[in-house]
Amino acid sequence: MKFLSTLSLISLLLITGCGSSDNDEASSAAKQAPGSEFTAFELEHGIGPITEEITISTDDLEKIEKGRLIFDSKCASCHQMTERFVGPALGDVSERRSDAFIMNMILNPSDMARKHPEGLKLLAEYMTPMPFQNVTEEDARAITAYLKHVAEQP
Ligand code: HEC
Repeated sequence: MKFLSTLSLISLLLITGCGSSDNDEASSAAKQAPGSEFTAFELEHGIGPITEEITISTDDLEKIEKGRLIFDSKCASCHQMTERFVGPALGDVSERRSDAFIMNMILNPSDMARKHPEGLKLLAEYMTPMPFQNVTEEDARAITAYLKHVAEQP
């Protein structure tokens, strides 16, 4: 609902800006409205290298083990599974976020925290920007498989 009213505000700004010399002002005002510069896909799945919905399988135990090892060495200093730490608890993150969102957060954390409405909210809450951990897309996929596997455990 909030999103819809933001959208109508933006259209109003765009319509009133049209044809006048304040066009630039109107579009920069529209950009400042949360979410306005993002597509529906980006709002749900984040911004970064993953631009399509994906479903990562949790059948590949080797990949899950690889993800666990990377998580322990590059993420566990800030993230625990059940408790809030430097960053949010991640044991249930795959129930809250899509696979693409998790991967974009891992692969593009600074843009997520500086520009994306969900990233901005997280940064406001945790006050620390998540640094890029120098992981490849394959690594991010393995970590995401591991996080989904953890969420599936009873
Ligand atoms: C230096 C601390 C730090 C490290 C290391 C770190 N993170 Fe984060 N992470 C954060 C913080 C803080 C946030 C909240 C967003 C922000 O402030 O940028 C976050 C947010 C996230 C989110 C979004 C959670 C949500 O609720 O939507 C995911 C997913 C995530 N991190 C995964 C990882 C993974 C996977 C790694 C390892 C590759 C990692 N993080 C490494 C601090 C860290």
